[in-house]
Amino acid sequence: MIAPSVLPADFSRLGDAVEALAQAGVDLIQWDVMDGQFVPNLTFGPDVIASTRDRTDLPFEAHLMVWTPDAMARHYVEAGCSRLIVHAEATTHLHRTLGNIAELGASAAVALNPATPPSAIAHVLDLVDLVLVMTVNPGFGGQRYIATMEPKIREVQAMLEAAGRADEVHIEVDGGIAADTVAGAAAAGANVLVAGSALFRHPDGLGAAVSELRSLATAARA
Ligand code: DX5
Repeated sequence: MIAPSVLPADFSRLGDAVEALAQAGVDLIQWDVMDGQFVPNLTFGPDVIASTRDRTDLPFEAHLMVWTPDAMARHYVEAGCSRLIVHAEATTHLHRTLGNIAELGASAAVALNPATPPSAIAHVLDLVDLVLVMTVNPGFGGQRYIATMEPKIREVQAMLEAAGRADEVHIEVDGGIAADTVAGAAAAGANVLVAGSALFRHPDGLGAAVSELRSLATAARA
């Protein structure tokens, strides 16, 4: 699945960007929510996301790169996000945080920064429908893919298989995903691909970029 990051879009025309992404054939839209504390950048509040909700029927997921996911969760669900991705590093009580997200009626998901081992999520795999393995240090688009995350993606895949959750839980990757890096991530087990620059900067436009990424990933997983 292709989950574009809206980060590289023209922020004065976010609704148009959402519509264009939907027309380009993406599977869902990822909103990179940054609070300026957990990561050194500041992006979308819930009202910004809510203002684009009626521009497509595609699912929205909020990647909460924030220190206070518990306080923010409800607002992003009410803004129209059906999945919330919280960072394992950003909450003291991850198990409770994920359970609270499910209580709000959204799908709960967990993200791991590059230095965080998969063991950090070993005891919450029953609470999530997606694990996000960051392939850059979060905060900005356009960074270089960290290929040393591929063994970590394999490790998460193995943990899901051992827990009998491999069919229910997606593995998502985010950061530096492009034509020259997607095969490694997909072959390692990623089935949801977040891309920003690779889509918005593709010379042949969003549609061509989405199809190219999807076919490269599919071939790598065959
Ligand atoms: C993390 C952000 C970026 C963004 C995608 O800071 O989450 O990874 O979504 O960035 P690209 O695809 O431009 O590397």
